[in-house]
Amino acid sequence: MTAVTAGPTAGPTPDRNAMNADRMNTEWWRTSVVYQVYIRSFADSDGDGLGDIQGLRSKLPYLSALGVDALWINPWYPSPQADAGYDVADFRDIEPAYGTLAQAEALIRGVHEAGMRVLLDIVPNHTSSAHRWFRAALAGDAEARARYVFRPGRGTGGQLPPNNWQSNFGGPAWTRTPADRDPVGDAAGGPASGEWYLHLFAPGQPDLDWSNPQVVAEFEDILRFWFDRGVDGFRIDVAHGLVKAGGLPDAPDPQPGSNHTASHPAWDQDGVHEIYRGWRRVADSYDPPRVFVAEAWVASPERLARYLRTDELQTAFQFDLLRAPFRASVMREVVDEAAATADAVGAPSTWVLSNHDVVRPVTRYARTQGEHLLESAWDRQHRDREAADVPLGLARARAAALLTLALPGVAYVYQGEELGLEEVEAIPDEARQDPTFVQSAGTDPGRDGSRVPIPWSGNEPPYGFSPPDAAAAPWLPQPDGWADRTAAAQEDDPASTLALYRVALAARREHLVDAGPVSWVRGTDPAVLAFSRGAVSCWVNTGSTSVPLPAGHVLVSSASGGADGILAGDSAVWLLDDRRVS
Ligand code: NOJ
Repeated sequence: MTAVTAGPTAGPTPDRNAMNADRMNTEWWRTSVVYQVYIRSFADSDGDGLGDIQGLRSKLPYLSALGVDALWINPWYPSPQADAGYDVADFRDIEPAYGTLAQAEALIRGVHEAGMRVLLDIVPNHTSSAHRWFRAALAGDAEARARYVFRPGRGTGGQLPPNNWQSNFGGPAWTRTPADRDPVGDAAGGPASGEWYLHLFAPGQPDLDWSNPQVVAEFEDILRFWFDRGVDGFRIDVAHGLVKAGGLPDAPDPQPGSNHTASHPAWDQDGVHEIYRGWRRVADSYDPPRVFVAEAWVASPERLARYLRTDELQTAFQFDLLRAPFRASVMREVVDEAAATADAVGAPSTWVLSNHDVVRPVTRYARTQGEHLLESAWDRQHRDREAADVPLGLARARAAALLTLALPGVAYVYQGEELGLEEVEAIPDEARQDPTFVQSAGTDPGRDGSRVPIPWSGNEPPYGFSPPDAAAAPWLPQPDGWADRTAAAQEDDPASTLALYRVALAARREHLVDAGPVSWVRGTDPAVLAFSRGAVSCWVNTGSTSVPLPAGHVLVSSASGGADGILAGDSAVWLLDDRRVS
């Protein structure tokens, strides 16, 4: 086996090029690789320690050279940042720390000029408590109040929350409004005697009431606002949460985030689909039609497929791979089940290995692997049970990347994945920013470890994230020892993770975009996952010992060195069958 030192070797025929170009123009979203830009942590142009639009703009050549087809930008709207921007105060403007609306419009043009598409993040389940609607609601505007979920409390004097739901971040999902700020409350009942409002996340993120037609109309208008500015689509935050069960009954398991497979009256209610039918009509009224990807944590691939019916959303994240251990049998099952259910509704599968809410794969795979899917928060809550073997985790993460990028459908890459970054687990408590940490009373360290600012260059923090004369340190502390993880350090190293992603993305574009469904190679070692798509076969060895490989030209390998005909433990390769290249 040879190390990755060069790009793909077998060139496409002109016909294949034409076919790809055509596909990319019309249904580009079926096969794209989308890069997630967590803007706060991507690149800081003005030295305030926060990433921003101009910083992102300066990295467009990097993203273009990486070979991704589209960018998804996490919320960039004005926000008090109670939940890192998922608490939106104004959906039609830009957070001043990130830039201006004019800069955002120029960025959208710049992304298009660089040959990529741009998806924004829409947050329809809740607003910020600083949104003008919520302020008006608390100031006594009945019409504004009816756009949120206010309810009287239970028990004597309404002291108890209206039901037993817990916030996704920990603690009750209800906050009582002070009587003097809540005209509906009982002023005689004491200082905190108003009604309660629902927040499935932080108290600064009041849930909207989607049975109110004003909410429906407002969000369709917000979609148009950004579509008119050239945005190609939206990632939908908490897409499964907008509609709550009638009467807001107590939940059998009050913690909505504790078990994605349990039913909860706040999640995945059938009424949510009507909302997306309306959004699809808006998206289809544009030329080219705009697209959506749903963040929907639901009980099964069958439930997920309901969001993907032909008159609803085009894509939805398939989170099972992200929850799967590095185990051939579990990964194979996930791929089969996901593909079958998405196929049934004519939708592509949408693969994700990581995002800003979960432990980075390098660290997830750096400890003993289980035999079944895990809760997304499980890894960070159990991190103390075993030291992380980061080099092992990195080897496995590189292999998992080759698996993901070889699968049919869409693949998302979270910023820093291409640099092989690990979770930063040692953030001091006083530096943690994620509300999960505070709301869980420290029982969950939260998601900051996957959000640490990107190291671009240099030998010490801020590693080129901020300019040399920056006034502030990065908003989350970067670790020492990331000098070899920077993009600059990896740029010319053919064995680097950055080089692996570049080569794999180019090979995917050349050989895999139209290669059809997965065809499993049977009879392999139980630790091996192997399938072919067209002329390429992908071999993943989740065991620790080497196994033999069949003949074939090694197109990409996750491990450097090694002998021909051998697949090392914890590694993956793509083999090209030269005879089948058309
Ligand atoms: C999902 C987002 O990815 C996460 O970061 C956020 O905290 C919640 N939705 C609430 O908006």
